[in-house]
Amino acid sequence: MSTTIVFSSEKGGVGKTTSAVNLAMAFAIGGYKVLLVDMDPQGSVRFSFGVKGHKELGTRQLLTDHSVPMKKLVTHDESGQGLDYIFANFDSLSQERDVLARLSSPEILKKRLDMEAGDYDFIILDSQASTGMLALNAIAASDLVVLPLQCESLAVKSLKRYLVAFKEIQLKHNPDLRIAGILLTMYDRNLEVHRRICRQLYDTLHDSVFKTIIPDCKEIPEASALGQSVITYRLNSIGATAYIRLSKEILDRFKLRPGMAAS
Ligand SMILES: Nc1ncnc2c1ncn2[C@@H]1O[C@H](COP(=O)(O)OP(=O)(O)OP(=O)(O)O)[C@@H](O)[C@H]1O
Ligand SMILES: [Mg+2]
Repeated sequence: MSTTIVFSSEKGGVGKTTSAVNLAMAFAIGGYKVLLVDMDPQGSVRFSFGVKGHKELGTRQLLTDHSVPMKKLVTHDESGQGLDYIFANFDSLSQERDVLARLSSPEILKKRLDMEAGDYDFIILDSQASTGMLALNAIAASDLVVLPLQCESLAVKSLKRYLVAFKEIQLKHNPDLRIAGILLTMYDRNLEVHRRICRQLYDTLHDSVFKTIIPDCKEIPEASALGQSVITYRLNSIGATAYIRLSKEILDRFKLRPGMAAS
């Protein structure tokens, strides 16, 4: 049985894709069988792995064409870490609109993963910054949600708003979904504002905030520009170390072992 983890936020650019890619890689190098699914039509996961050109098969068929078996949609990672991906292959706005028009229910992805992805230990979903039907499908299919957050007052305001909306979505579409944690990203300890907001968040939200903080790390955009995860690019960087620590924190917090769903 798989544990499905979605990275979600209302605000864009908070580190969802970076975190999804690197958590997936951290689990994969830890020996887990991992599937990373790009649920964002921007297709950033594909760019994070340097995959260029048109992809005929991917998230579009996963959501709208059940006649194509899921294993045909999966690309195997070439770095030898045993990570599998399904890339977002929305090549135009009209393809995105077409999928949205056919996505009649928030349960479609969940049904598909339940039927065809049971062999994975972890399924990681990179969601788009919205609460539209694609994001609802990602949320409804998940056991755990990670909420990335930058230590900025606007981001904190947006998180508060999102938590209210999120509770409604959770009640309606997936009452079993649990918040794995709020993940502080792009943290610069030299900035007083980051230190202050970080303290306030731990004081008010306590254990809801992961102990692991993802630091602002120059190797992360460097790795992404080269089409790699920071873990395969610079294993000793502060960014890679933080994502490996996050993977261990999630395993410990939810007592996860291969083949077990979050309990
Ligand atoms: N810890 C970090 N240190 C430095 N740069 C980072 C870090 N995390 C992410 N970035 C950079 O910040 C930018 C936004 O990150 P990312 O694409 O992961 O955010 P996102 O939430 O997925 O955005 P979107 O909402 O558009 O999908 C990227 O250029 C990424 O390389
Ligand atoms: Mg993204």
